[in-house]
Amino acid sequence: MTSAKRGAAYFDQWYADMAASPVRDAIIARALRLPPGLHLTGVLPGPAVTTLTEELGLSEGGLLLDIACGRGGYGIEVAHRTGSRLIGVDFSAEALRQATSLSTRRLPTGRAEFRLGTLVATGLPAAAADGLMCVDAVQFAEPPPAALIEFRRLLRSGGRLALTCWEAADPADRRVPARIQAVDLRRDLPRAGFVDVRVREQRDWREAERTLWQEAVAADGTDPAVRSLQEEGRRSLDTFDSLRRVLATATAP
Ligand SMILES: C[S@@+](CC[C@H](N)C(=O)[O-])C[C@H]1O[C@@H](n2cnc3c(N)ncnc32)[C@H](O)[C@@H]1O
Repeated sequence: MTSAKRGAAYFDQWYADMAASPVRDAIIARALRLPPGLHLTGVLPGPAVTTLTEELGLSEGGLLLDIACGRGGYGIEVAHRTGSRLIGVDFSAEALRQATSLSTRRLPTGRAEFRLGTLVATGLPAAAADGLMCVDAVQFAEPPPAALIEFRRLLRSGGRLALTCWEAADPADRRVPARIQAVDLRRDLPRAGFVDVRVREQRDWREAERTLWQEAVAADGTDPAVRSLQEEGRRSLDTFDSLRRVLATATAP
């Protein structure tokens, strides 16, 4: 997920390939210590879900937004643990189809819904959410600061943001993908109107990611989803020291 511009059609195919690949799911669940069957897209390890849940501070019946939710696994897990209501947004219809299917198995009827929208134009009402999470996706927004402004719009006063991403270990490093270089959370979260902004490096999460890429590269599977994971793994391992894993948290004033 690091090179040229990627639109909804690209992600629809990416998710369709994943749905046909139990081998990919198994590699990810094993490497990241995640509960099986969560339909995870990605590279955030199990303990991180606990951290996100704590940072969001949701109460039962509160409204959680998962923006660029993909197949929905992380947001569904946080909603499951907290008893919150969940709205997931993504621009991939195929991702939302899979997220809806997972939520019917993991959450009580009516607790979750999934809607088409983009990172910068979700179509959701202002100041209605108690918590907002965005996992490994803000770098796809055009441009990333516009997504942060949209996130601020969606949260009620006192609402909490938890966002995961990467940043350049060295801003001058030309190996860092342009879309990651465009994300500056320390600068842009306050500019978007957030207070209590904290951006913390997560070394353990990054090490879990390394394990995932190593296991993916060594795996036997040959379906398109496994091949895509392997390509991403090789690319990531080649430039592993160029990125830091970060968790950003903030409050809407
Ligand atoms: C790396 S995946 C992460 C998905 C999910 N948050 C997770 O961690 O499992 C990035 C997600 O961002 C979505 N995405 C990319 N650009 C987007 C945009 N402009 N608007 C909405 N969603 C977008 C993709 O469809 C994909 O689901």
